[in-house]
Amino acid sequence: MDILVVGGGGREHAICWKLSQSPLARKIYCAPGNPGISSVAECVPIPVADIASLAKFARENSIGLTVVGPEVPLCAGIADSFKEQGLKIFGPGKAAAALEGSKIFSKQFMNRNGIPTAKFNVFENKNEALSHLDANFDPRAGIVVKADGLAAGKGVIVAKTIEDARKAIESCFSGEFGDAGRKVLIEEMLLGEEASILALCDGNCIVPLASSQDHKRAGDGDSGPNTGGMGAYSPAPVVTGSLMAEIDETVLQRFLRGIQEEKLGYCGIIYAGIMVTKKGPMVLEFNVRFGDPETQAVLPRLKSDLLDAMLAAADGRLSGVNLLWDERPSVSVVMVSGGYPGSYKKGFQISGIADAQASGAIVFHAGTSLRDGKIVNSGGRVLAVTALGRDIPDAISKSYKAVSMISWEGEFHRKDIAQRALALGAPEAARPANRQTGKP
Ligand code: AMP
Ligand code: GLY
Repeated sequence: MDILVVGGGGREHAICWKLSQSPLARKIYCAPGNPGISSVAECVPIPVADIASLAKFARENSIGLTVVGPEVPLCAGIADSFKEQGLKIFGPGKAAAALEGSKIFSKQFMNRNGIPTAKFNVFENKNEALSHLDANFDPRAGIVVKADGLAAGKGVIVAKTIEDARKAIESCFSGEFGDAGRKVLIEEMLLGEEASILALCDGNCIVPLASSQDHKRAGDGDSGPNTGGMGAYSPAPVVTGSLMAEIDETVLQRFLRGIQEEKLGYCGIIYAGIMVTKKGPMVLEFNVRFGDPETQAVLPRLKSDLLDAMLAAADGRLSGVNLLWDERPSVSVVMVSGGYPGSYKKGFQISGIADAQASGAIVFHAGTSLRDGKIVNSGGRVLAVTALGRDIPDAISKSYKAVSMISWEGEFHRKDIAQRALALGAPEAARPANRQTGKP
């Protein structure tokens, strides 16, 4: 069968790379793709938000399954549009994608369905938000301010001081995040270790993937501004077998019951960003897609056929799917353009990718372009370099060895990806069995 993957980042490179290993895949297209993706898929220059052109391409090329990477087309209703035209797609419809597209909808869904999450209040008016802050700010705890809508990962401000919280509220209401910031949540600050739990879902059954952990801050020791993700590793040792069983019960199964009772329908990946607090696992956010860069760490550990599993999700037969995982942990280091997440210069030639690959690492492309036949940096996050190892120190050493072979002017990467995993000890002990809820 021929496949269309929508997106052009490191996540989509990892998805295309894994799908290309499936005996069920004849040809893979990626829209718009990138130079790295072009080694495993044919790139077609259609932007991810151009739903009509993507559907036309899928119809004209008899695409058997379209897989959507980013949230923007999902929140804009790409899955509904494809289904209306009889096109098979992996990704939830617009109503369910609001679990990511509106943080208010998402938090209210969690409360309605008993999913543990931080306490929150919603404001549509700046002065009311500021008064609430003045009355509730506890300098020992801090507070979190969130723009309601999609803001490319920038709409969440973790404020340790009342001044920072005020600034965050002012910037949301001043239009810094466009429409996304018209409504604002003020949330209790949670403390603990974070983990990303991704699961396949067909609306009746949920199948968790291996756990992972992202590094969101730009600098070593989790310092500096938030980014799209500076690296990831899998599994996340904080997610022990017993914790995973608790997450399955209090988050994944309640999510499944919730989407059934609220008739949201769901086919695709549900991503729960979890904070492991003293009171147990709590959900920071839901995303309705694969994580980036978690996918670049998780998929290289998947031994099963990803296409087979995605087709099962699209066809509502996920209960028959049992995913097998490589026991070896993985570490993925993201290499970024100097200055990211602020402004950065593009167009520098990248050298050493082939040497890094020859060392056994997988080099996923994100912000790269071809210029005069040479690969150059063209985005903030440029490459994700993944290696598996016999244990986490070995995976760290292999991925950093490969990273050291790659260079371009201004290149930057964190030096401490997966160090938190070392501090936490042994990898997860068990994974939960697939469980089915409701009628198939
Ligand atoms: P989100 O996009 O909602 O996941 O938020 C981005 C990041 O902000 C999360 O990965 C956390 O590191 C942090 N964050 C979000 N909500 C909270 C919270 N209630 N308490 C502490 N940190 C948070
Ligand atoms: N790694 C965070 C995200 O994909 O949203």
